Amino acid sequence: MPTFPNLTLLGHPLIKHKLSLLRDRRTPVKDFRDLVGEIAMLMAYEVTKDLPTEPVNLDTPLEHMTGEKVAGKKLALVPVLRAGLGMVEGILRLIPSARVGHIGLYRNHETLQPVDYYFKVPSAREERDFFLLDPMLATGGSAAAACTTLKQAGARSIRLLCIVAAPEGVRKMLETHPDVPVYAAALDRQLNEYGYILPGLGDAGDRLFGTR
Ligand code: PRP
Ligand code: URA
Repeated sequence: MPTFPNLTLLGHPLIKHKLSLLRDRRTPVKDFRDLVGEIAMLMAYEVTKDLPTEPVNLDTPLEHMTGEKVAGKKLALVPVLRAGLGMVEGILRLIPSARVGHIGLYRNHETLQPVDYYFKVPSAREERDFFLLDPMLATGGSAAAACTTLKQAGARSIRLLCIVAAPEGVRKMLETHPDVPVYAAALDRQLNEYGYILPGLGDAGDRLFGTR
C-alpha cells in the first residue's frame, strides 16, 4: 500500500466473506473460533506463496518423476496470547511441520501499554522464518514488543499476520520494525478512545474464549 509500504492486504473473496461473519456481533463463540482458524489458514496460503521449493525425485504408480517440495525452511508460528492462539490450528493444517512458540502479552487497559508474562520459542532462531500471529493490530504496542523480544532472542526473519489492523498499529510497526512485513485481512478506520479498532470486531480474546 502506498501509505504503508510494510502492509499487504489479503483481499481474497473468501477472506472478505469470513471476515464479515467474524465482525458480526451476533456470531457465537464456536463460529467465531472456527472463522479465525479458517481466515488464518487462507492468509497463510497467500503469505507462503514465495516459499522456495526444491526438486524431489519420486515414483508414481506409473513412472519415475521429479516433483517439488518446500525447500528445508524452518518455520515457526508464534501466537501472541491469548487471541493469537486462535490462528495456530488453521495454519498447522497447511504447514504441519511448523514449530510453535508462544509470547504472552496483554494490554494494560488504562495505559494501553503491553505487559509481557511469557516467552518460549523454538531454537535455531537465526535460521527460522517466524510467523507472528495476532488477530488484532490496534496501537501496535503488543506486536512491536513481541517483535523486539523475538529479535533479542535471535530472530532475523519475522512476518506479522493479523486479521484486522488499525492505521495506528501499522504505522507503529513501520516506525519500530520496518523490516517486518505486516499481512492483514483488513485495514480499518481508526482506534476509539479505549484503543479498540473501529469498526473492528470487538475484543478478539473475549470473543474467542467466551470470557465476556
Ligand atoms: C489484544 C490483541 C492484541 C492486542 C492488540 O490482546 O489480541 O494482542 O490486544 O492491541 P495493541 O495493538 O494496542 O497492543 P489483549 O491485550 O486484549 O490480551 P488478551 O488476548 O489476553 O485478551
Ligand atoms: N484488541 C482487541 O481484541 N480488539 C481491539 O479492537 C483492539 C485490541
